Amino acid sequence: MPSCRICGGTLREAFDFGRQPVADAFVAPKDLANEFFYRLAVAMCATCTMMQLVEGIPRERMFHTDYPYLASGSTAMQAHFQGVAQHFLDNELKDPGSFIVEFGSNDGIMLETVARAGVRHLGVEPSTRVAEAAAAKGIEVRNAFFEESTATEIFAAQGPAKVIYAANTFSHVDYVDSIFRGVDVLLSADGIFVFEDPYLADIVEKTSFDQIYDEHYYFFTVRSVQAMAAQYGFELVDVEYLTVHGGEIRYTVARPGARTPSPAVARYLERERLTGIAEQRTLDRFAANIHQLRDSLRDLLLRCREQGKSVAGYGATAKSATVTNFCGIGPDLVSYICDNSPTKQGLLSPGTHIPVRSPEEFAQDYPDYALLFAWNHAQEIMHKESRFQSQGGQWILYVPKVHIR
Ligand code: SAH
Ligand code: TMP
Ligand code: ZN
Repeated sequence: MPSCRICGGTLREAFDFGRQPVADAFVAPKDLANEFFYRLAVAMCATCTMMQLVEGIPRERMFHTDYPYLASGSTAMQAHFQGVAQHFLDNELKDPGSFIVEFGSNDGIMLETVARAGVRHLGVEPSTRVAEAAAAKGIEVRNAFFEESTATEIFAAQGPAKVIYAANTFSHVDYVDSIFRGVDVLLSADGIFVFEDPYLADIVEKTSFDQIYDEHYYFFTVRSVQAMAAQYGFELVDVEYLTVHGGEIRYTVARPGARTPSPAVARYLERERLTGIAEQRTLDRFAANIHQLRDSLRDLLLRCREQGKSVAGYGATAKSATVTNFCGIGPDLVSYICDNSPTKQGLLSPGTHIPVRSPEEFAQDYPDYALLFAWNHAQEIMHKESRFQSQGGQWILYVPKVHIR
């Protein structure tokens, strides 16, 4: 067992999913022989309590030219990120010349509002195709990984940033030491580093184990983020709960003493202590719940097959890689997965090789059941696919437990 990637403490294994493919590596039939697999397991640090992958994979295997995730595929998330941008515009970026840097800017879902307001900004995004999608919207983008060297170059060219922001990206990066050094170089004296990522407490409470896959290297709690920030010379000054993606927290980090800490930090720390999120019994319960969820989902899909009912998946999410591979769900149980990303359509799901098809194909011939892999977008998807249900189709959900709606 390696030691904690952040503090060097002892890691305690929480769950081992075994051999798994790269979650966003949707594959063309001709490339099936080249699929890459690794061991997916998570462990918690006995010292700083950070939950983390036991074994990471090289970043270029995940984030490259053909990285297929398009953040703007969800209108609910578009609204969410417009709100984030507006908040920064109203509160942090009012001085002329204010500068905001976002890393993991993807197709520009957040920065487009900033660009439209005419405020100085830069997206840092290593995945070329999504970076180009943002640039096509008139957003300034640098096609690179954010890390110390990139931050140093940005600072030299453009000066300090008042805000450094990352959504669903900071927890994807194992090299947080280099990121924090980069933030130290680039952030203004009174600036803030803000990041939002899935909250471990929600993952455990909802048994949303599908949040665990290669790209999600760390699973943050307020306690572990506070310890991490302190280790790199920063202070956690605010936390805010978000309902997106099944439950996230937005963390605000600043230079020590630069901002007055919000009482929310202490409140969350106390709640995490009371619920025992870092205790072994909590992780044991999580592991038992994962096994139970796998068994009941498999049972339901096997029953559907016995009864001659058709099942399609909905949302070729990265999360679905863990569910399908860990639960043994292939095209025999789920005949295809419907997804609105042109970057995924026509390809096969990693490891389990379920074809990905467009929403138009879904509507042409509805299945009896649709297994909602994109459960975090349930409201938006069920609303847009209301005809599926009115024509007798039923949704299968598995978070927080397997049920039919
Ligand atoms: N912020 C968007 C996209 C999240 S997906 C949203 O919340 O929906 C994560 C993105 O981070 C991907 O586009 C990936 O290419 C990018 N990424 C991964 N490592 C990065 C790094 N070190 N610096 C900048 N971007 C990175
Ligand atoms: P995510 O859960 O990682 O955000 O991924 C959601 C996936 O679901 C992504 O591939 C896009 C797809 N999707 C649809 O197909 N239709 C939709 O309406 C939404 C919101 C997402
Ligand atoms: Zn640690």
